Amino acid sequence: MTTAPERSPVQQFTMLAGVQSEDPFEVYARVGCVPPFWTDNPNDVDGFWVVTRYSDVRAVLQDADSFSSVEAFIPKIAMPNPMLPTESDPPATRKYRSILLPEMTPEKIDPLEPRMHAVCAEIIDSFRDRGHCDVVSDFAREYPIRIFVEFFGLPPERREEFRGHAHTFLHSPPQRPTEWTAIRTIVKEELSAKRESPARDLLSSIANGQIDGELIDIESATNVAATVFLGGLDTLPSNIGWSLGFLASHPQMRRRLIEDLSVIPHVVEEFLRFYSVANPVRRASRDIEVGGSLIRQGDRLFLIAGRADRDDAEFEEASCVRFDRGVNRHLAFGAGAHRCLGSHLARHELAVALAEWHERIPEYRIPEDVEVSFHGGVLAMGSLPLVWDV
Ligand code: HEM
Repeated sequence: MTTAPERSPVQQFTMLAGVQSEDPFEVYARVGCVPPFWTDNPNDVDGFWVVTRYSDVRAVLQDADSFSSVEAFIPKIAMPNPMLPTESDPPATRKYRSILLPEMTPEKIDPLEPRMHAVCAEIIDSFRDRGHCDVVSDFAREYPIRIFVEFFGLPPERREEFRGHAHTFLHSPPQRPTEWTAIRTIVKEELSAKRESPARDLLSSIANGQIDGELIDIESATNVAATVFLGGLDTLPSNIGWSLGFLASHPQMRRRLIEDLSVIPHVVEEFLRFYSVANPVRRASRDIEVGGSLIRQGDRLFLIAGRADRDDAEFEEASCVRFDRGVNRHLAFGAGAHRCLGSHLARHELAVALAEWHERIPEYRIPEDVEVSFHGGVLAMGSLPLVWDV
């Protein structure tokens, strides 16, 4: 049995919800890679553990027996229905994932690549002659949603509405229950239609998926589909924004990429590590020690992947972006029972975005005297103005 003191050490921690004026990764850099510490703040008065070290974050993610994903939200928010598979524990998690996994394999995703190139090219060409754009609103948010709605099977003309719901859900925690209900209403309607007449899309596979040999019930199918909807809509724009923001201000590294586009898969992996935008949460299902701290059954943990992935104990020169990094076991997609199901799709989309952008606009910069804004929640750039010569 551990001798560690209870809920100690205690440290201040800022949740970073909503619009931020400071780069959230810099805020997390100041927190450091330290043993788990206890904190409370106005957004979550019950308090929770903050986990920053790579080894601790990985250990928690890989131990679903001791760390539950049910009732783990930080801040604590009661949702009217569970997000699935996110708010489930094994063995149920595996059952929900078994419906999605066959649809997310390279065999299913790779054929989408020509469409990704075409959509990217069309969007970039729409503003290239202008000599400026806001990367976040004109490109990073526009491209992934166009691919996603086709893959998922939602009516493309409603994409602004879908994007709005996903964005509010992910970046404004108090509005989550209302947004979740709105998203469920949309996907439930579509799922019911796809049960009647299935198409070749993910919604049809979910609508007609089987659990333990039985057709999945419509409520569970809705919870699964609504979760994919959220996973697929906001994380990619965040990563595209960070990547182009970095390359805009590091011309030598940008030139390396332009001279040899074959380096892109390594660049994607390194940006996923350096800008790990999603921070998972868990709740201890028993008393357990993590990194020297005693976590009590029922305590919740906030796992800062965006800090852990810059931990010098795991990555050489962790605070530098290196396109020649060899082993890169980053936690951007999580690990263990809930590892991201969309990782193959995400990697593909990011690689295509970098290739198409640099073929069309190889030289660009952030104009002087502009304010770049940021978002908490899924860590994102709120805006990123870029200019180039035409
Ligand atoms: C750069 C892009 C992305 C990042 C950084 C990301 C990150 C993550 C992370 C960290 C988790 C694990 C959460 C946890 O352990 O509690 C996760 C889960 C998930 N992601 Fe992603 N994701 C991305 C893109 C996508 C896309 C494009 C999709 C779908 C099309 C998707 C669908 C999902 C789903 C369904 C889960 C839940 C898996 C489960 O609970 O078993 N993600 N994602």
